[in-house]
Amino acid sequence: MARIQSKGVSQRLQELLEGLERGLEEGLIPAGIFNDPELFELEASRIFSRSWVYLAHVSEIPSPGDYVLRYILNNAFIVVRSEDGKIRAFLDMCRHRGMRVCRAEMGNASHFRCPFHGWTYRNDGSLVGVPAEREAFGEGFRKEDWGLLPIPRLEEWDGLVFGNLDPEASSLEEWLGEIRWYLELVTKRSPMGLEVLGPPQRFVVNTDWKLALETFISDSYHTLMTHRSMIELGIAPKDAKYAMYGEQIHIPGKGHGTMVVGAPPGAKLPPFWGYPEEMMERARTSYPTRQQWEVARETRIFLVTLFPNFSLHNPIRKPDPQYPVPVPMLTFRVWHPLGPGRIEIISWGMVERDAPEWFKEKARLSYLRFFGSSGTFEQDDTEIWSHVAQNAASTLGRKVRLNYQMGRNLKPDPNWPGPGVAYPINFTDENLRNFYRKYLDMIQG
Ligand code: FES
Ligand code: FE
Repeated sequence: MARIQSKGVSQRLQELLEGLERGLEEGLIPAGIFNDPELFELEASRIFSRSWVYLAHVSEIPSPGDYVLRYILNNAFIVVRSEDGKIRAFLDMCRHRGMRVCRAEMGNASHFRCPFHGWTYRNDGSLVGVPAEREAFGEGFRKEDWGLLPIPRLEEWDGLVFGNLDPEASSLEEWLGEIRWYLELVTKRSPMGLEVLGPPQRFVVNTDWKLALETFISDSYHTLMTHRSMIELGIAPKDAKYAMYGEQIHIPGKGHGTMVVGAPPGAKLPPFWGYPEEMMERARTSYPTRQQWEVARETRIFLVTLFPNFSLHNPIRKPDPQYPVPVPMLTFRVWHPLGPGRIEIISWGMVERDAPEWFKEKARLSYLRFFGSSGTFEQDDTEIWSHVAQNAASTLGRKVRLNYQMGRNLKPDPNWPGPGVAYPINFTDENLRNFYRKYLDMIQG
């Protein structure tokens, strides 16, 4: 931790981070990391300014001129498909005096005209119009020097578009590493790939981004209490420990993690998440490897979380107890940090592009019922996360060390066919320990 001290981090924050580092060994993590203004500043500069952050799916901007506004920290970026078909991203800030040039969250535009003095940019970022150019700026003015500023790095992997504020960052592929094998269980379920089920839902929650991430990277254990009502209503499987049955896998050195949950013993759940037969058949040949198909066939609930703030969740769900067959749903989400103890959840419903239309509609409804701002599971979770964050900022609460000891004595599963380090039960904090190792690594550097 000496490096942190040398870079002007306060004594208090240094102690907090030392507590976290020690806690990883003991399974005791200081609550104070979950709602701290000074730590948030450090996370902004050391983590979010140097990580690949999910921005958009290619299906959100299929045609030239399509754009969406997306964010890394408090920077707004226009992610746009230019006339040449290439996806680009620009800081939404006029080069003249700094006004936002894009006034909608999504749309289609060949040009962006600044509402302040009217400078006009093509959707490839080039400045093409300056009112009264000659009178105001004279002969020597070079418009080519004043285009919109591109995001330092922009890369796409299998339809997922990420940005990075660090021009020196290693490639997205390198950043993802072996978690790609698991992402492909979703992105390659069909040769046509995925599409969004409309624009994202966005809502603000008074919590820390790490608390949201923790649930989606590791915490199967909360389902038996937080989502108890779903079990009582017959929406989740009868066995209250249903989320325990599966493997928890992390990618060492990367911070990413996944949970691959099968059917509880004796439960009659259809294979392959309950997707329609035709989709299952397509997947059998679409997956790059036989092992991926075999894992997918046995999967009923699936989560992948990428360091630092992207998660996908793909569970089998019965929209209501009367509904005859389960309908799997897929959501992508970004835990967008707004400040200490405050996030915006940006949540998309996703589906295979070539899924039958009836299924797309059912999957959309299934997503809306369970996730998004009106979703039952989402409301259960966010209510709890906000109170943990509140406690974490209280004068006594911030000093409390929380229990991260679940599954400490587990041994990895030597027979798991996929990459990463797998544990044969989901009731473990192993993915969190891996996440916080990466977190400390970046916070220190
Ligand atoms: Fe955009 Fe002046 S700030 S034209
Ligand atoms: Fe939950």
